[in-house]
Amino acid sequence: MAAAGVHSPAADAEYLAAHVLGVDRMRLALVPMVTADQLEEFRKLVARRAERVPLQHLTGTAAMGEIDLAVGPGVFIPRPETELLFAWALARLEVLGHEHQPVVVDLCTGSGALALAIAHARPDAQVHAVELDSEALAWARRNALQLADEGDTPIDLHHGDVTDPALLERLSGKVDIVVSNPPYIPESAVLDPEVADHDPHRALFGGPDGLSVIRPMIPNITRLLRPGGAVAIEHDDTNGSGVAALLTAAGYTAVLEHPDLAGKPRFVVAHRGTEL
Ligand SMILES: C[S@@+](CC[C@H](N)C(=O)[O-])C[C@H]1O[C@@H](n2cnc3c(N)ncnc32)[C@H](O)[C@@H]1O
Repeated sequence: MAAAGVHSPAADAEYLAAHVLGVDRMRLALVPMVTADQLEEFRKLVARRAERVPLQHLTGTAAMGEIDLAVGPGVFIPRPETELLFAWALARLEVLGHEHQPVVVDLCTGSGALALAIAHARPDAQVHAVELDSEALAWARRNALQLADEGDTPIDLHHGDVTDPALLERLSGKVDIVVSNPPYIPESAVLDPEVADHDPHRALFGGPDGLSVIRPMIPNITRLLRPGGAVAIEHDDTNGSGVAALLTAAGYTAVLEHPDLAGKPRFVVAHRGTEL
């Protein structure tokens, strides 16, 4: 059921004030003076937020891990729940150690959130990211250039369909970790206006059951992963056991369902062959 109003109006107003004043939200109380122009800009932004324009479109940024990504119309806004999948990937990379260069693939990268946050945290990793939508890819390219300019290891961005059987052929059998936050909402879901009216349709919906991208993507993941490699796929909260069953049927081991911070099923991890 869509909510009647903005979920956290006070916090959002503080974020917008901090954005206008160019300070961290926690330092708002220390700002000695506000100009008439700043007040006017703040009021305009609050009015747009009241019209259910997403906070991140008004500030122009969203966070993942230690990085900030530029976001706006045409690209999915990275969500806090995906931080858990990101944390899993970092923990997995730690298990692999630092002796060899790990190969990571982010399928359905959107703004580049997962791929770029991983490249930032693990400069030794070779990170590839795949996106189908040209507009989203342009945002990912912009973010990738910005972070590379700031000194991060550049990632390889690929314009492609994650369900294409020829996807990233030269990486077949070489990938240590696949991460993916694909479109996964069942078509019938009722969404808040911030989501329904501002996130791209292609980023949100995964067919009638929410699995229309995940299901055909799994054979590619299986081909890409090296033996012992691991995958994490985010999914709709109605589909935890569904995604786990698809991975089990594809021969994966150590298939594990993970909840998000609200305790809802949110992502599944699995290993190709014996867990290493
Ligand atoms: C839910 S968004 C996630 C974006 C990003 N991973 C994140 O967490 O912020 C899903 C993304 O998958 C892209 N996408 C949808 N179908 C695709 C496909 N078949 N191949 C590649 N990308 C696809 C969408 O354009 C969108 O950018």
